[in-house]
Amino acid sequence: MDIAQDLIRKAEGRQALFGIVGLGYVGLPLACELAGAGYRVLGFDVNEKVVDGLNAGHSHVKDVSDVQLQSALQAGRFSATADMSRLGEPDAVSICVPTPLSKFKDPDVSFIVAATESVKRTLRRGQMIILESTTYPGTTREILLPALESTGLTVGEDFFLAFSPERVDPGNPTYGTRNTPKVVGGITEDCRRVAVALYQPAIDTLVPVSTTEAAELVKLLENTFRSVNIGLVNEMAIVCDKLGVDVWEVIDAASTKPFGFMKFLPGPGLGGHCIPIDPHYLAWKMRGLNYKTRFIDLAGELNTEMPLFWVRKVSEALNQQGKAVRGAGVLVLGVAYKRDIDDLRESPALDIIRLLEGQGARVSYFDPHVPCFAEDGHEFRSVTLSPETVSKADCVMIVTDHSAVDYRMIKRHAKLVVDTRNAMPKEA
Ligand SMILES: NC(=O)c1ccc[n+]([C@@H]2O[C@H](COP(=O)([O-])OP(=O)(O)OC[C@H]3O[C@@H](n4cnc5c(N)ncnc54)[C@H](O)[C@@H]3O)[C@@H](O)[C@H]2O)c1
Repeated sequence: MDIAQDLIRKAEGRQALFGIVGLGYVGLPLACELAGAGYRVLGFDVNEKVVDGLNAGHSHVKDVSDVQLQSALQAGRFSATADMSRLGEPDAVSICVPTPLSKFKDPDVSFIVAATESVKRTLRRGQMIILESTTYPGTTREILLPALESTGLTVGEDFFLAFSPERVDPGNPTYGTRNTPKVVGGITEDCRRVAVALYQPAIDTLVPVSTTEAAELVKLLENTFRSVNIGLVNEMAIVCDKLGVDVWEVIDAASTKPFGFMKFLPGPGLGGHCIPIDPHYLAWKMRGLNYKTRFIDLAGELNTEMPLFWVRKVSEALNQQGKAVRGAGVLVLGVAYKRDIDDLRESPALDIIRLLEGQGARVSYFDPHVPCFAEDGHEFRSVTLSPETVSKADCVMIVTDHSAVDYRMIKRHAKLVVDTRNAMPKEA
């Protein structure tokens, strides 16, 4: 039997069973999109709470609504399990587990290794395995391939292996899993062909590339491109501050050029699970090959200095009003790492709060999407945003420009505003 043809036929008829390992920000939207395309999807996660919540119809990921999840559950197209011994059931398995950094900013691929071990235990002839987690070039071939082939099965003959980077942009109202083109690279030509066929019903545009390494590098180029360009505009913000020029006016005017310029915005620093982390995966890989990636390192340096730059602006602004940071009440608006989402991971707001508290400020925060959080053993709870809370603060610091905030009200009532996002309304 030609197992490639068999899987392609199953994809065309939506008879393939999809397994998704890791049901987080990436895995759950992918699972729902595949279910929406007509596949049956079995989700795997080591976190029993996540599994129970999903089976009860509660989505913990903002981009997937309870209604969307419940309709997949009721149609019998989605269920979740923590029982990894069932990984032999799916025809295709997409791995969407975290890839954080270690304390020393080296790649931590332990989740990929653990997920691969689970997949390996039940690997059978005719399965397609696709890694989605962002990682350094070579991971699929150097970590997954030898582990999976240690079962005695051969890639391209008995099973298929590919890398296809997830490009989800949480909170993006225009681009979701389906209409964001998806890059796919296989270990063999058949691996790529089968992966493309399996994703075709759920993704509008697939972009095949020649190797898994090329696909791995595509994702790192995309995020390094963002990190470097954000680093550049952050440096421009510092330059403009020294020159007394409005950086946002300069960027707005520069972006009227219809070619050769792409708009990036400065801010309080990088956040999220991707841009602050992914370039380090590439830098680490290149260090092993005796090459120092200078753009990556410089952008990382500039971007991580931004919380300090903005805390200094708070200190200078308070000083102008005859106040010290020590003892001042600072109300931080927005702690999620970007607008209209609830994700705190790597958020620069956490650094800003730590720095302000380190200087003796009394920090409170408001975030419509983050009612509470704990950091360094300290519990924080969002205050209510009202004219009273705003006027009571010595300084209101806009860190994340959520659209639900009434910035005119802030303008009317705040004694002082430090705006890291250009969210405040301009004078008429
Ligand atoms: N969040 C984003 O915006 C985004 C965008 C593009 C790519 N990515 C990449 O996608 C990958 C996943 O990120 P995420 O944001 O979805 O992570 P996440 O933390 O939201 O979800 C990961 C899930 O995997 C589960 N998990 C961990 N180890 C497991 C194992 N061995 N077996 C089964 N389940 C396991 C966790 O319990 C968790 O529920 C990362 O490599 C990330 O860099 C993330």
